[in-house]
Amino acid sequence: MWLNFILMSENNHTPKRYTITAALPYTNGPIHIGHLAGVYVPADIYARYLRLTGKEVAFVCGSDEHGVAISMKAKKEGVTPKEVIDMYHAIIKKSFQDFGITFDNYSRTSADIHHETASEFFKKLYEQGDFIEETTAQLYDEEAKQFLADRFVIGTCPKCGHEEAYGDQCENCGSSLNATDLINPKSTITGSTPTTKETKHWFLPLDRYEGFLREWILEGHKNDWKPNVYGQCKSWIDGGLEPRAVTRDLDWGIPVPAEGGEGKVLYVWFDAPIGYISSTKEWAKREGKDWEPYWKDKDTKLVHFIGKDNIVFHCIIFPAILKSHGGYILPENVPANEFLNLEGNKLSTSKNWAVWLHEYLEEFPDMQDVLRYTLTANAPETKDNDFTWKDFQARNNNELVAILGNFINRVVVLTNKYYEGVVPAPSNFTEVDQETLDALKKYPEIISSSLERYRFREAAQEFMNLARLGNKYLADEEPWKVIKQDEERVKTIMYVALQIATALAVLSEPFLPFTSSKLKSILAASNELGWNDVLEKETLLAADHKINQSQLLFRKIEDSEIQKKLDKLEATKKANENEKKAVTPQKETITFDDFTKLDMRVGTILEAEKMPKTKKLLVLKVDTGIDTRTIVSGISESFKPEDIIGKKVTVLVNLAPRPLRGVESQGMILMTESKEGKLVFVNPDEEGVGNGEGIS
Ligand code: MF3
Ligand code: ZN
Repeated sequence: MWLNFILMSENNHTPKRYTITAALPYTNGPIHIGHLAGVYVPADIYARYLRLTGKEVAFVCGSDEHGVAISMKAKKEGVTPKEVIDMYHAIIKKSFQDFGITFDNYSRTSADIHHETASEFFKKLYEQGDFIEETTAQLYDEEAKQFLADRFVIGTCPKCGHEEAYGDQCENCGSSLNATDLINPKSTITGSTPTTKETKHWFLPLDRYEGFLREWILEGHKNDWKPNVYGQCKSWIDGGLEPRAVTRDLDWGIPVPAEGGEGKVLYVWFDAPIGYISSTKEWAKREGKDWEPYWKDKDTKLVHFIGKDNIVFHCIIFPAILKSHGGYILPENVPANEFLNLEGNKLSTSKNWAVWLHEYLEEFPDMQDVLRYTLTANAPETKDNDFTWKDFQARNNNELVAILGNFINRVVVLTNKYYEGVVPAPSNFTEVDQETLDALKKYPEIISSSLERYRFREAAQEFMNLARLGNKYLADEEPWKVIKQDEERVKTIMYVALQIATALAVLSEPFLPFTSSKLKSILAASNELGWNDVLEKETLLAADHKINQSQLLFRKIEDSEIQKKLDKLEATKKANENEKKAVTPQKETITFDDFTKLDMRVGTILEAEKMPKTKKLLVLKVDTGIDTRTIVSGISESFKPEDIIGKKVTVLVNLAPRPLRGVESQGMILMTESKEGKLVFVNPDEEGVGNGEGIS
């Protein structure tokens, strides 16, 4: 009964089909475990589960390729945005595929179909007069000659005081911001304090949607949306919604299709969610289906899987856009997750504090399910959570190996040993047998109930409880002992155990898809078996059916493997500590020809003396290999002359000579700075020299 009640509270009728979306990842870096735990693993479990229950599903995603995140990455690496997105799109797409995320379509927002779809949306709203067109003063970087919005500007969040809020959003408190709201704004391009300059933009007047949002979310979804999602929505709506600019002065993005829109592009958060629709169109076209019911039929259930920093965009802004356009359904749920940390610290791409999916897949090939299981068992569903390598090892060794793997192995080995792999016919079921079979039949509903409420950790634990049931049954019935006295009885025991094993093969599919297919092949079980068969079918694996030999499902993870991962993180931490000083932004890109103009040689300091009447200068005689020459160097505060005689140094030998206090300096010694601000010779191994320290 209560299960029905829960299903009813979300939707009064059974949906005809499902549109499942997973946040489009930015193509400015690869995928890490935070993305997986927050979005892609739960979304994939949900989509797989729905398909297994016979539902029609479109599970769509794609790369988010516009916006400042991409431009910044391109600038930093001295390449074009197109090169950045092509590279990461390929890495991300492949890693999702290898990890077993079953998107029906993985598109990209640079695709023509998306440009068309997003432009059409903008045009429709524009023509309906749903935007406010306004010229306002926006932040401007005089040095970079560029308007600053979104990630091009950071400053203090006016709502929570976080010092690194972006121009459109504070990732600490989730507030959506206008760049001009930031306190102490700084350009992330040049580090300078911006001025302001007038520019024209189109604004979506969110304030006009307050009534709609109140009714739809605050009244309509009070009971079925997660408290963290509902709470955030409530506080924004109660706090007063303001018009938001949906265009930008940038050169990377979808051109604004409106009069006076030349040189401007759509705001990335205007175009990206429309990417879900474009991706569905692309999929439908390929499959010969109609995309429209998936977005327009009210019998379609739309669910957005996202991380908590995306809530405002999926619950307020995108629905306002859909509503304004008209004809579209709205999400029935937005089960946003909190964040995953790694070994007690916030995941960070720039600090390399992450477990990268593509690296994991290389280091632990064929162990996708172990990571899926760990991330699900420990998912940040109601609060931020921590991924630790020790927990990863424990989940594997104590649960996957010791419970699930052990049960399957016993069943398969004994069936092969006693009956040459042929499922025996049972005779009388004892009370325990019957109870066990009855308990087994309850699992599909128990797990469904958790999944339908987006409680994936609970669902995975319930799944593991079924394996526990199997282990307990075998431990209590002890077929390996009974075989000596009562062969008939053992047939029944093994029959029951084989039914549990088959149920595990089916029910594991959403959580452990690779294991599920291995298990089905060991049991030679039909691929047709669905979720409800476990509930409804009298037998899942009939007497006389022949199974195959056992195969290893999971291997034990050794302490040494975990230690290696921990050592790597420790090294990352050390490198980051050395970098605590602000790193100077990278200089403009130079060509290879520019570089080859520099003639740098290894030399040895032969003599060193203080230059009289100066504080900083030393006069050095250096053997450059070409000659012995005089170099005047401003390093006297960091070195005593006698300490550097005999030292090997790097010398720029073709720098134009220049006189310093009457002595001609004939080159330059390359130096860098330690954490304490002391000059040191360029030698990256030198104690205390951090990455990113400039050489000059
Ligand atoms: N790229 C965004 C992020 O990583 C998510 C975009 S979701 C979409 O935070 F709805 F815009 F597609
Ligand atoms: Zn904030």
